[in-house]
Amino acid sequence: MQLLVLNGPNLNLLGTREPKIYGSTTLAQIEADCVAHGQTLGVSVSCAQSNHEGALIDHLHAARGTMAGVVLNAGAYTHTSVALRDAITASELSVVELHLSNTHARESFRHVSLIAPVCVGVIQGFGAAGYRLALSALHGHLNRP
Ligand code: DQA
Repeated sequence: MQLLVLNGPNLNLLGTREPKIYGSTTLAQIEADCVAHGQTLGVSVSCAQSNHEGALIDHLHAARGTMAGVVLNAGAYTHTSVALRDAITASELSVVELHLSNTHARESFRHVSLIAPVCVGVIQGFGAAGYRLALSALHGHLNRP
């Protein structure tokens, strides 16, 4: 089983970007941890990041039919992108929405997720540890009886 961990805009700056909100773990450390956690689950984890909406959509299209599911931190596109939501639906993939921060405890414009209704579920507010939680949840979802 292959799973994709896909990160959106500004998440390449993790570690130095607003560490009080997002923590001090870098994206490279998170991705290495996702691969290691995948090994404990018996799945192969690939990782990608882009600051560009279209490139994220291309990643979802490429994952269609090759990956079993996706952990997606769409960053700010979560709150704005109908195109990303449509790509999730079109990909027919199981997608877990992920955020490091608890978006409901922040500005009101972050309270709306355009992608949540087409995702399996949402994990947020647990910082970098959320990626492991999301992978475990996605794995459990895909292996449900
Ligand atoms: C984020 C939350 C978003 O609102 C924000 O735009 C991000 C990061 C998170 O992981 O907490 O870029 O997705």
